[in-house]
Amino acid sequence: MRKIATALTRSRVWRSVFRHGFPDSNRNRSLAIFSSFFLHFHPVKVRVRAIAFTRTFYLGGLALACFFILTVTGTFLMFYYHPIVPSAYNDMKDLQFVVSYGMFLRNLHRWTSRTMIALVFVHMAWTFMRGAYRHPREFNWTIGVGLLVITVLLSYTGTLLPWDQLSYWAVAVGTNIVGAIPIIGAKVKLLLLGGHEINDNALLRFYVLHCVVLPLTLAFGVGLHLWRVRKDGGIHLPELPPRRDDVGDENYASTRADAGSPESSDAPHENA
Ligand code: HEM
Repeated sequence: MRKIATALTRSRVWRSVFRHGFPDSNRNRSLAIFSSFFLHFHPVKVRVRAIAFTRTFYLGGLALACFFILTVTGTFLMFYYHPIVPSAYNDMKDLQFVVSYGMFLRNLHRWTSRTMIALVFVHMAWTFMRGAYRHPREFNWTIGVGLLVITVLLSYTGTLLPWDQLSYWAVAVGTNIVGAIPIIGAKVKLLLLGGHEINDNALLRFYVLHCVVLPLTLAFGVGLHLWRVRKDGGIHLPELPPRRDDVGDENYASTRADAGSPESSDAPHENA
C-alpha cells in the first residue's frame, strides 16, 4: 500500500497538480500553501485556540455558507423568472404551484436570506463582545459594517421581485424614506425607481441590483474581509501572560497576578 502511495505521489500527473508531495514537514507545508492559488489564502499554521468552536461559533463561516446557498438557489430561480409586469407575479405563482420543487427552491432562498441576516448580526455582536473590533482590526470591522448593509440591501431589493402587495408597499415605504433625505433624496429616489412611480422600470432596476450589482459587491467585500482576517494575524485571541523564562522568577509572580490568574496554571487563558 505504501509503495502504491509513493509511486502515485511521485508520478508526473500527481506532481503536475500537487508540486510538493505530502505536507509532512514544515518546509513542505509552507511550500504546499504558498504554491497553490487556492491554498495561499490560508495561513501555514493556525493556533489551536483560534479554531475552537466557541471562539467564533463559526458564525462568519455560516453566513458565508448562506451566501453560497443563496447564489445557487438564486441562479435556479433566474431560469424561471422574468422581471416584467405581469410575468413577475405569474412566474412566482408558477414556481410555487407548477414547477417541480419550485416551492422548495423559493422557500429555501427566502429562509436562507433571513437566516443570513440573523447570522451576520450575531457574528457582528459576537466579534464586538470579544473586542475583535479593536486595533489592528478596525478596518476589517468597517468592511464588516459594509457587508451588513449590503446583506440587508440584498434582502430588501429581493422583496420587490415577486411583485405582490407586500413587495409593492415595502418598496413604496422604502423609497419614500430615501426620498425624504435632504438635498439628494429626490434624485436618489428617481434613480432607484427609474421614474416617479413603482412600475416596470423600478422592477428592472431592483432586479439588476439584486442579481448582479449587490451579489458581486458582496462577493468582493467578503473576499477582502477574509483576506484581512488573515493579514490582521488571524482570529483575535486574548493575550497569554508572559512565560517565566522571558521575565525572570521575580517578575513572573507579579505578571501572573496582573493577569488575574492562578500562578500555577495556564488553563484559564488557554480556554479563554
Ligand atoms: C456577509 C457577511 C459576513 C461574512 C460572510 C463574514 C465572514 C467572516 C468570517 C468567515 C470570519 C472569520 C471567522 C469568524 O469569525 O467566523 C470573520 C471574521 C470577522 N468579521 Fe466577519 N463576516 C461578515 C460580516 C461581518 C460584520 C457585519 C462585521 C462587523 C461589523 C464583521 C466583523 C468581523 C471581524 C472584526 C472579524 C475578525 C474576528 C476576529 O479576529 O476574531 N463581519 N468574518
